[in-house]
Amino acid sequence: MATLNKNYNKLQGAYLFSEITKRVKNFVEKNPNIEIIKLGIGDTTEPLTKTVVKGLLSGVKKLGNKKTYTGYGEAQGDVRLRNALSDFYKERNIDLSLQEIFINDGAKADCANIQSIFGVDNVVAVADPVYPVYVDSSVISGRTGDFVNGKYEGLVYMECNEKNGFVPTPPLQKVDIIYLCNPNNPTGAVATFEQLKAFVDYAIKNKAVIIFDSAYAEYISDPSLPKSIYEIEGAKKCAIEINSFSKWAGFTGVRLGWSVVPLDLEIEDGQKGKVHALWSRRQGGSQGTMYNGASNIAQEGAFAVLSPLGRKENKKVIAYYMDNAKIIKKSLTKIGLKVFGGENAPYVWVKALPNLNSWQFFDKLLMEAHVVSTPGSGFGLQGEGYVRLSAFADKKNVKKAVESIKKNLSR
Ligand SMILES: Cc1ncc(COP(=O)(O)O)c(C=O)c1O
Repeated sequence: MATLNKNYNKLQGAYLFSEITKRVKNFVEKNPNIEIIKLGIGDTTEPLTKTVVKGLLSGVKKLGNKKTYTGYGEAQGDVRLRNALSDFYKERNIDLSLQEIFINDGAKADCANIQSIFGVDNVVAVADPVYPVYVDSSVISGRTGDFVNGKYEGLVYMECNEKNGFVPTPPLQKVDIIYLCNPNNPTGAVATFEQLKAFVDYAIKNKAVIIFDSAYAEYISDPSLPKSIYEIEGAKKCAIEINSFSKWAGFTGVRLGWSVVPLDLEIEDGQKGKVHALWSRRQGGSQGTMYNGASNIAQEGAFAVLSPLGRKENKKVIAYYMDNAKIIKKSLTKIGLKVFGGENAPYVWVKALPNLNSWQFFDKLLMEAHVVSTPGSGFGLQGEGYVRLSAFADKKNVKKAVESIKKNLSR
């Protein structure tokens, strides 16, 4: 008799984006002549660059030619691509062997699936507010209790608020798996060397593992901020890094990323190399149990992202989005709103007007300024009282949105 994984029953509905869609639809039906400006979704809007398109096309052509055709790829991904990634890390004085790099088809699945190589009794810590995947995958894998008063029992929440600049500090109690999202979605906050070092020190002391999601690392322009956890001494002993070409190069629909599982990583009952061996068993492409590798074509595209021209072009695209973030932040600050993030991340975190919660402020922005945001409460209890505005939008729309907020938002 088959039964269901009852942990799914504990999940809170995919309420956030469906509720946003419902409210927007409702408004549009009642106001068919009003133009809505969407700054809610964290999806890229600019097209792939020329060099990347060329790379993807060369991947297609190779598959269409008997001499260059390839089927299943190398166990952990294209060697050329992993070499290029290893060189990319060298620029920040990080030495990674090709064996430590696993090409994936985007960061999200690895963020969730990485839990499968750790014991179910491991205690997980997450920042609050944060990208919901870490929480939901902890629930599904049975590492939490029920959802009570806005929190899952058994999950440790590292509160992020104005006092700590929305950057978490290591938990006071002992935990085993720590998710860090840096730069943070939704707050746009980025940790300093010292702040990340505190986590690395904690993890080494407690034989815990850090899962470092750096999907927005290329948005960090401040040279004093680390982009990779491996810039922190000792991190190879305790951290797995998961990254993606989605936000860096518009690959949200192409699908490609990578994870780094260092050979030096050690945990309570796993000597050096053991964590790596388990991930390799699970995820090692055609030699792994649960994964057959990323698309050859997408990997050609990613190789092009890492080329000098690809890097240059995508820097420009990122600058375009970050200019949007600057426009949003500057304009909203000017009209007296309290605004965070948006400097080294494509998200602007806006405090609701006094006495309004996230959804009330969302409604106000929608009804008065016709701008769609994302309520902060959807990312955790500490997100209540804020909304997220995304810089992934056409500049014309961003300008229209801020003008409309300036003109129409009543106090
Ligand atoms: C923090 C973070 N990590 C990972 C992802 C997903 O990345 P990918 O498209 O590579 O699966 C997102 C997407 O919004 C994200 O915000």
